[in-house]
Amino acid sequence: MSNENKHLTTGTGTPVGDNQNSMTAGMRGPTLIQDVHLIEKLAHFNRERVPERVVHAKGAGAHGYFEVTNDMSKYTKAKLFNGVGKRTSMFIRFSTVAGELGSSDTVRDPRGFSVKFYTEEGNYDLVGNNTPIFFIRDAIKFPDFIHTQKRDPKSHLKNPNAVWDFWSLSPESLHQVTYLMGDRGIPATLRHMNGYGSHTFKWVNADGEAVWVKYHFKTEQDVKNMTNEVAAKLAGENPDYHTEDLFNAIDKGDFPAWKLHVQIMPFEDAYSYRFDPFDVTKVWSHKDYPLIEIGRMVLNRNPENYFAEVEQATFSPGTMVPGVEASPDKMLQGRIFAYSDAHRYRVGPNHNLLPINRPKVEVNNYQRDGAMRSDNNGGGSVYYEPNSYGGPKETPEHKQTAFQVTGVAEQVAYDEHDHYTQAGDLYRLMSEEERSRLVETVVGAMKPVEREDIKLRQIQHFYKADPEYGERVAKGLNLAIPQEVK
Ligand code: HEM
Repeated sequence: MSNENKHLTTGTGTPVGDNQNSMTAGMRGPTLIQDVHLIEKLAHFNRERVPERVVHAKGAGAHGYFEVTNDMSKYTKAKLFNGVGKRTSMFIRFSTVAGELGSSDTVRDPRGFSVKFYTEEGNYDLVGNNTPIFFIRDAIKFPDFIHTQKRDPKSHLKNPNAVWDFWSLSPESLHQVTYLMGDRGIPATLRHMNGYGSHTFKWVNADGEAVWVKYHFKTEQDVKNMTNEVAAKLAGENPDYHTEDLFNAIDKGDFPAWKLHVQIMPFEDAYSYRFDPFDVTKVWSHKDYPLIEIGRMVLNRNPENYFAEVEQATFSPGTMVPGVEASPDKMLQGRIFAYSDAHRYRVGPNHNLLPINRPKVEVNNYQRDGAMRSDNNGGGSVYYEPNSYGGPKETPEHKQTAFQVTGVAEQVAYDEHDHYTQAGDLYRLMSEEERSRLVETVVGAMKPVEREDIKLRQIQHFYKADPEYGERVAKGLNLAIPQEVK
């Protein structure tokens, strides 16, 4: 959209006579408050920022489409996964987690992988990361965890003491910490990484039968990572390296693509599987539940305006379509609340009216008014229910499926605490070079930790995952594995 050869106006459409000189009493002033154009310009400028996201503040986005290559109607009635060749338009936002809006792209951090599908049954948001697992498994720990990743309230510096104190006291983080400190902790570009829904979700078919599912986006560009040295150099030279790479690739027609796969677990298996399949610190064995390719995502259009499309985009794990439902994952449950709450605060209660968030289907409900209601607010149509005026009606076939719940309501921990097997498996999967780089990165990250008890506590976790892993980190830090652990 061009504004070429248009005349300049105020926000109220009045032609502006002078945009270079404010109105003053004589050449030397003072400035007159009646210069409404000047006042509007200064006041609007003061309000240009909305709060940055409390996490995942720095991001880059792109438009594209998702195409079904393998019909999934046997498992889900979600229309976007049904009918080979079916295309659904989508928008993606990639992000780093801990840094602020202007922070460097090449830091060691998980990358956000948020996909908004504009389906014929409303929007479906898949708000995942480039890692299949997470640091914690109960939403109640999230604000504390993020505090340790953000700046220290006194020094306003990153605080390695807090990071390792929290991780060492939260051994469920070990799997993700190993993943993050390994080669995949810094992707070469946003195009060269996989994406994961991470949580377990429920799929329901047209007959009301349910299965459990995990999503995996596999990059067609191949997984490529960046070394600590290159990343550190780029952080200084070009902090927007990943943003630029994505923008330029799409701009020159080199469209990045991902194959979407799922793992499907029969509904009943969840209760007999060898660990809790809703625990987001664990992966499901691919031998038990192999990857099934279901479609392809292609990014083929850059945003026209960063603020309107990327900054104002709002993704929520609670935004699902018929055929996709929540699992009991305690993290997912917390996220279903947290995101829409953040959106109402960060963008406003009518954030879904913004073009980037607005579904591509008609929206009909009885919600009215609120800050920045920018459509016709329902016009003169009926604004309550039940009513005798033919207003929008619920469709019982879209009710969520009923499910059984059992147990005593209480604040209760997970019933198993094997934080070591999968973290150790990941270590053992690595080549000798990968292990060396992992250990070097961990040692580098732990060196600034001031308290020895924190380092020792963390080293024990590495040791329990794999004795070699623990011994090597301990050696790098000039410490010894405590006798009682051996
Ligand atoms: C962003 C909360 C766990 C991925 C956010 C935002 C909040 C939040 C409040 C900012 C939303 C906004 O302002 O638009 C939480 C809570 C969690 C949690 C409470 C745990 C209970 C996770 C997990 C993942 C994840 C497990 C990935 C598997 C993301 C991504 C974004 C994000 C990708 C950026 C969304 C975007 O691109 O706009 N999170 N989060 N988060 N979170 Fe989480």
